[in-house]
Amino acid sequence: PLTAETNSRGHLVIGGCDVVELVAQFGSPLYILDEITFRTACRQYVDTFQHSYGGDTLVLYASKAWNSLATCALAHSEGLGIDVASGGELYTALAAGVPASKIYFHGNNKSPQELLYALEVNCTIVADNWLELERLAAYAEEHDLGMPPRVMLRLTPGIECHTHEYIRTGHLDSKFGFDPQQFPELLRFARAHPELDWVGLHAHIGSQIFEQQPHLDLCIVLVEWLQAAREAMLPMRELNVGGGLGIRYIETDNPPAIAPWSKAISHHLSHACRDRNLALPKLICEPGRSIVGPAAVTAYTVGSRKTIPGLRTYIAVDGGMSDNPRPITYQAQYTALCANRMTAAATDTVCIAGKHCESGDILLPAATLPPLQPNDILVIASTGAYNYSMASNYNRLTRPAAVLVCEGEANLILQRETYADLTAHDVLPLRLTLTT
Ligand code: LLP
Repeated sequence: PLTAETNSRGHLVIGGCDVVELVAQFGSPLYILDEITFRTACRQYVDTFQHSYGGDTLVLYASKAWNSLATCALAHSEGLGIDVASGGELYTALAAGVPASKIYFHGNNKSPQELLYALEVNCTIVADNWLELERLAAYAEEHDLGMPPRVMLRLTPGIECHTHEYIRTGHLDSKFGFDPQQFPELLRFARAHPELDWVGLHAHIGSQIFEQQPHLDLCIVLVEWLQAAREAMLPMRELNVGGGLGIRYIETDNPPAIAPWSKAISHHLSHACRDRNLALPKLICEPGRSIVGPAAVTAYTVGSRKTIPGLRTYIAVDGGMSDNPRPITYQAQYTALCANRMTAAATDTVCIAGKHCESGDILLPAATLPPLQPNDILVIASTGAYNYSMASNYNRLTRPAAVLVCEGEANLILQRETYADLTAHDVLPLRLTLTT
């Protein structure tokens, strides 16, 4: 779906911009975000849910995938709300102009300050545990908040799916959400606390999921819980099916497309409600990776080469696990291109290494590319999700810049960090500055 092509100079072009020129202008490494790809994914979700469900729908951009002013503003301009998972993500979404009425606050350990912040700005709080519920009820009783705060309950649905164990969340042994065994108790608590507005129910089963069935199963579980809530005289009105739709990183990945996936979920949920004579709740879905993942690439500059005869050739680039921690964390796989020689024959199989002081800092263990030389521009595709948002300053590398490209125009959306940024929060105690 990336609007990528090759120009007459044999350079990769994204969003109408020559990637080699972008690196010359904005430096390296560089995240390049393609606006049309991002917007297209948003529209596919919004339109399909609207057309297929038959009731109210809301798509939230799971901003943890790439939270920044520009990405929140883009999602908002497409009519999406924003899923935030910390005070910092909430702050950014608000600063991007997203109204709190379209922000949902997640997290398994929101601090008292974060809860107060959420109450002050009046976003919806997705409660994850008893401590939060007790704190929320106490705050709402103590303070006159005008309107009762909107609260959703996150439950662990007990649904297994095939993805990396670190990013599975739906199985019962998960740190997230309430144990469904406690649902009757939760409903009693909710009835006893009318000072909170009990909006609905939430569940999320995991990320980078290719099968459709676990999400369909989840719809049924959610509808059964909704029915129980309504029978217990809690007129809940929203169901949030979470996110999780996977994307293609390598050729053999075969995820479902957004539209058929969204349609299947919409139909399944509306049928399940109709079968039980339940008025349709608002259907909420919160994808992150499938919106922003395919929309960005990272461009690096090629540096040193080391060949170990009979074993392998390492080609090092000017970034690595600090701008993309996914390979070292999840053994995530990616696809690479040589952006300045797109038409050259791919005859070399090399290992693309990062520049960090760590042997495991390998971005691609075996990439087949044209023979790479120093200063070539190497692009790794589909790095929009969980790259910048998980980036670090390991080895005191400065975090890369990011540009938004569209129809031949490039706009800076993240400034490259400077060395001064790196020490901006360091404090040197006076006694350490004294010389003997
Ligand atoms: N909703 C909730 C409650 C979530 O926890 C997540 C992701 C999402 C929505 C969005 O899921 P998505 O549509 O992006 O799959 N760092 C890992 C992924 C962690 C996912 C965390 N939660 C990675 O790089 O693969």
